[in-house]
Amino acid sequence: MRVSLFFSLLAAATTAFSQYDHRKAYQLEAGTWIENFAPRGSSWYTRLTRIDRPEVLEVDPAHQHGGPRTIYTFPDATNATGITELSTDRYAVLTLNQVDDATTVSIWMLDTSGAQPSANKVIENIGGSELLNGLAAVTSDIVFTTDTLVGGVYRIDLQTGTADKVLSGDSFGPGVNGLRYDEPYLYYTNTNEGVFGRVEVDPITGAPAGEAEVLVSGEILVGVDDFALAYWTEAAFVANFYKNTLVRVNINEGTAEVVVEGIPAPTSATFATSGGLYVSTSGTGGDEGASIWSVTVPDETFVS
Ligand SMILES: *[C@@H]1O[C@H](CO)[C@@H](O)[C@H](O)[C@H]1NC(C)=O
Repeated sequence: MRVSLFFSLLAAATTAFSQYDHRKAYQLEAGTWIENFAPRGSSWYTRLTRIDRPEVLEVDPAHQHGGPRTIYTFPDATNATGITELSTDRYAVLTLNQVDDATTVSIWMLDTSGAQPSANKVIENIGGSELLNGLAAVTSDIVFTTDTLVGGVYRIDLQTGTADKVLSGDSFGPGVNGLRYDEPYLYYTNTNEGVFGRVEVDPITGAPAGEAEVLVSGEILVGVDDFALAYWTEAAFVANFYKNTLVRVNINEGTAEVVVEGIPAPTSATFATSGGLYVSTSGTGGDEGASIWSVTVPDETFVS
């Protein structure tokens, strides 16, 4: 009895001080660039996009079915950017079609429920946008996306096929990048400004319902891309593309700390449905191709 109490106290102390162990889980071929993960949702698989090609991949976080594999290639497109789960095995995905100097930005609904995934284009060209990037679903019909080149955040209604720029200026200017939703807040990053912030939106209509709030800003966040929201506590794990770091933002405290160094040019992060944090890279950080890293978050407490 006394012995087991001793060991459980020891275990608790070790957990609190242990490192954010990280290791490369998968290396993709040269020339690949993983742009984003669909955030932890209800599917067993983790789905992700490549920006060097118009592709969606999936990976089984339990490693039982091999490494990442392409499950869908969009026609009439050159790149895939944002991806978000709408409901089980239904996703919204953004693509670019870059031909000569013109870019067409489209949004699709991708159905991965069958043996052969299929997609239908909801909006052919989102007028005025140049590089729609982060994507977050508020409901199964309403998604938000950032324009990293021009600045601004669009609200897209997938039922009516309409897109409206609803947030702009200040930290929503050029560089606005990652987006995740955790009711009632839409969380965002700005690469250029080094900002992690949030804005409240109506959980049914998606209408912005308050002023944007910068939670943390500063040099530690200059270069940040996409991020994962923790599901057991108020924290975000943000990929800093420029600095090769993973930064933990403690939302309630308004603090940020580097928890992992040395992931080359990381682009995004997600928790798997079964737990565990994964970080993707662009393959531009000297590792010859995109990679997926597994990171142990010491205080992660599995909640289904
Ligand atoms: C889109 O894909 C093409 C072809 O791989 C590539 O040359 C271009 O840089 C990509 N665009 C972006 C924004 O990554």
